[in-house]
Amino acid sequence: MKPKIAPSILAADFANLQRDVEMLNESDADYIHVDIMDGLFVPNISFGIPVTEAIHRHARKPLDVHLMIVEPDNYLEAFKNAGASIISVHYEACKHLNRSLQAIRQLGIKAGVAINPHTPVELLSDSLEMLDLVCIMSVNPGFGGQKFIENTYSKVSRLKEMIDTKGCETLIEIDGGVNLDNAPKLMEAGADVLVAGSFVFNSSNPKETISELKNI
Ligand code: DX5
Ligand code: ZN
Repeated sequence: MKPKIAPSILAADFANLQRDVEMLNESDADYIHVDIMDGLFVPNISFGIPVTEAIHRHARKPLDVHLMIVEPDNYLEAFKNAGASIISVHYEACKHLNRSLQAIRQLGIKAGVAINPHTPVELLSDSLEMLDLVCIMSVNPGFGGQKFIENTYSKVSRLKEMIDTKGCETLIEIDGGVNLDNAPKLMEAGADVLVAGSFVFNSSNPKETISELKNI
């Protein structure tokens, strides 16, 4: 099976966002990954609702919104209205994960959870039925361009087994440091969606790089 590719707009040229979104429209990308950072949950601030709306105005691919923010429940509706097709909240930022996931699904969009590198996948065993997507962080969230953490492979295979045992349709997404070296191993371990930021946007031909990831 081919991976779904979700280029992270965080690595785009923000002064040429429309151009970069149009490049993604023309590419083999399946989603546009939108990284929201609040300076509290992670030590960095990216952009917020108006920029997400602006991306959505030009995008012809679904927006996969990754909320690296505290109190995500307060912003679910705003990001849905800004154009999100999938919203992932962080496990570590949710007091009541089940409630947050329910709230996302009630908005009529797909619900995801992201887990930090230190968070075991086993903690999700009672939530899989509520999850359209699990985003396994393969770097510490907060910055693009970091080095891939190797324990990700075993997390992917463990999660894949849990999903298959339960017979759920939850997609496994990998976020951080993804490139052509680790992508084949991630797919072998059971990944479905690959997020790639700097590897795509720092390459000499981003559109071609997306195709290469798609066709590993
Ligand atoms: C990290 C973000 C990632 C990041 C991926 O906090 O969630 O989506 O932008 O960028 P690369 O592919 O450069 O690691
Ligand atoms: Zn992300």
